[in-house]
Amino acid sequence: MTDPQPKMIMVGVELFTENFPLPADVYTRLPSGQYLLVGKKGEKSNFQSLHMTAQKKAELYVRGADYDTVIQFNLALARTAVGKAQVPTNLKLNLISGLADSAINDLVDRKIVLGSYERVKQLSGFIKDTVAQVSDVEKLLDLLSKLPADNASHGMATAAVSLLICEKMEIHSKPTLEKVALGAMLHDIGMKEIPDAILKKTRADRTIEETTHYESHTMRGVEMLQELREIPSDVLAIILEHHENALGMGYPRRIRDIKMNPLARIVAVANYFVELLHDKTGEHQALTPEEAIHYMEVTLGQPFNKQVFLALKDIVYAHRRAAS
Ligand SMILES: [Fe+2]
Repeated sequence: MTDPQPKMIMVGVELFTENFPLPADVYTRLPSGQYLLVGKKGEKSNFQSLHMTAQKKAELYVRGADYDTVIQFNLALARTAVGKAQVPTNLKLNLISGLADSAINDLVDRKIVLGSYERVKQLSGFIKDTVAQVSDVEKLLDLLSKLPADNASHGMATAAVSLLICEKMEIHSKPTLEKVALGAMLHDIGMKEIPDAILKKTRADRTIEETTHYESHTMRGVEMLQELREIPSDVLAIILEHHENALGMGYPRRIRDIKMNPLARIVAVANYFVELLHDKTGEHQALTPEEAIHYMEVTLGQPFNKQVFLALKDIVYAHRRAAS
């Protein structure tokens, strides 16, 4: 199949909250492969009532050039709505799954997630259900709403990649997968307390004090999550250890693989990989999935857990095998 022109990106209907103005033109795809305009920028969204989108499982598209605008709009909306007591929890959860859909669609675009719309919904549905089951769901949504926009998307992408790694490693226990998803989604929650002036600097430009402050986002995240009832200790371990690596050269404790929480080993790899795909620190350019694997393996000398890294490498190269 050739790429349609201009490039279109599939988005979940959850990205368009009922009765809110559309941030961009929205299309559906006809069986012929052509795109039909179903909502114009500025019009109020009413996709929930369109029978055709229900039949097509709400498969909607936006132009590639508008995708960022749609995401930024949704993030702004999610941040406003999720923190408000009068907004129903269900709507807030829809916004969360809209964010997850977007992050996962980006992974589809990069051929990291292979498969259909159902596959995207399966992953984002799992993430949404995991959030919904947290006993202090409102408090958790409030914390998520205060994250900087980039961090919320990064957390969703890290959760999706972590789940793919689990699948490849044949980890099927639902409680384990839920802990991985939650820990991955929230791993950078402590960034909320790090000043912008430090966040904007590259690693090399930070003073020793600033580096220590930056690295404290791991511990701060744990402290913030301790406010929630019944957060599993594995989730806290993921947040604390997501920058550790197998060689004991990570932070904050510089512990080696053997001492790391097994679930944190997974999220540490997924986090680093997703960071390389979207690098905005100015330290290097954003990499393709294959370049990111090469960077982790050759440039860094593969400092992560071997089994987890090989599972990720397998995922990244799966589309090449499928194509040959
Ligand atoms: Fe982090």
